[in-house]
Amino acid sequence: MVSKTTTLALWGLAPFFRQALAGFLANSQNNIAIYWGQNSANRPNSQQRLASYCTNTAVNIIPIAFLHSIKNPTLVNFANAGDNCTTFPNSQLLSCPEIESDIQFCQSAGKTLLLSLGGATYTEGGFSTPSEALHWADTLWSMFGPPSPFSSTPRPFGAAIIDGFDFDFEAPTQNMAIFASRLRTLMDTNPRKRYLLTAAPQCPYPDHAMDSILQRVPLDFISIQFYNNYCGAPSYISTAAVQNNFNFATWDAWAKRAPNPRVKVLLGIPGSPSAAGSGYVSGAQLEGVLAYARRYESFGGVMMWDFSQVQGNRGVLETVERGLRGEWAGEGAATRGGGGSGGPGMGMGTETGTGTGLAPVPVEGTGAGSVPRWGQCGGKGYEGPTGCQAPYACVHQSEWWAHCN
Ligand SMILES: *[C@@H]1O[C@H](CO)[C@@H](O)[C@H](O)[C@H]1NC(C)=O
Repeated sequence: MVSKTTTLALWGLAPFFRQALAGFLANSQNNIAIYWGQNSANRPNSQQRLASYCTNTAVNIIPIAFLHSIKNPTLVNFANAGDNCTTFPNSQLLSCPEIESDIQFCQSAGKTLLLSLGGATYTEGGFSTPSEALHWADTLWSMFGPPSPFSSTPRPFGAAIIDGFDFDFEAPTQNMAIFASRLRTLMDTNPRKRYLLTAAPQCPYPDHAMDSILQRVPLDFISIQFYNNYCGAPSYISTAAVQNNFNFATWDAWAKRAPNPRVKVLLGIPGSPSAAGSGYVSGAQLEGVLAYARRYESFGGVMMWDFSQVQGNRGVLETVERGLRGEWAGEGAATRGGGGSGGPGMGMGTETGTGTGLAPVPVEGTGAGSVPRWGQCGGKGYEGPTGCQAPYACVHQSEWWAHCN
């Protein structure tokens, strides 16, 4: 547990956390993306509702996983969080008002929320014709993009508007670049907001499932799965000038020639030893890989799979943050007060904890106010109501944000 004074003192580390509140930043090397939705740890309480992770100021981007099927979007799947959804009338399509309000809450806390398409169980193989690809891109945009008054397409996340789409196809597909380009066009012709298109290829180059997207469609960032393969983070050799297996350099070279030459490359790692088939790295190996990757111009931060694993693996997020700041724990960690045990108060806690691992710090009494649960009730620059509806209290989350819980 982090004491109240320590927590408040740590909020003073504002410059780093402030950038986290900006969501994905194209010119930053410190982006952290963590997938939510699949509850890959699959243990009691290992996946909490989405909102509970959005108070964690270390995290910039949350891809929601997965829409397993595009041509049959009833296969939207969020593991145990799907239990809180209902279905639309005469349809199997999920309607998820809790995720709707959590997306809106997370966006108000500065996070970038993406919908991830595919996953290892995606079996459609793309689209049989280009016009079918265009049709489904338009349909997904009306289901998850800005609501149109002229459309009757049911929206699983209601009024919530996602910040973009992430592609996670792991088997070959047809006409997928046409589908992705159409999404790019729909996003880029919307003047009100910058939407993102991203992908999560496995590390062997070229990617056998998504190469056509990677070579033809401008993406904002890619999160490479540097695990389950010879080219992953465990293969990084700290004493070698040239890496023969760990292939970040290959992907950096791809980035420079990519349709968006400013595309960022995130180093994707498992969130715990049990998160992926193989390829977990920790401690000095993780810090060494980060120190190496940071030297590349395209390096944009870290992706982790997934929240349920990170939550059960105390300290891993702190190691990533330290590595991104260029701090080396090997020497000097012992001299930094508190280093290692609680980190900078950003821990995910244990599986039985609240989901953020932070001891709540009420800043107002509970009771008689008007702000509903998860609503903002404080933070620098906030001038709205500060009293929470009973039985909630206004809880300090950061210099910029307090909410009722
Ligand atoms: C499901 O809903 C309940 C009641 O709102 C909530 O406590 C729980 O965290 C939700 N579960 C998930 C995984 O979203």
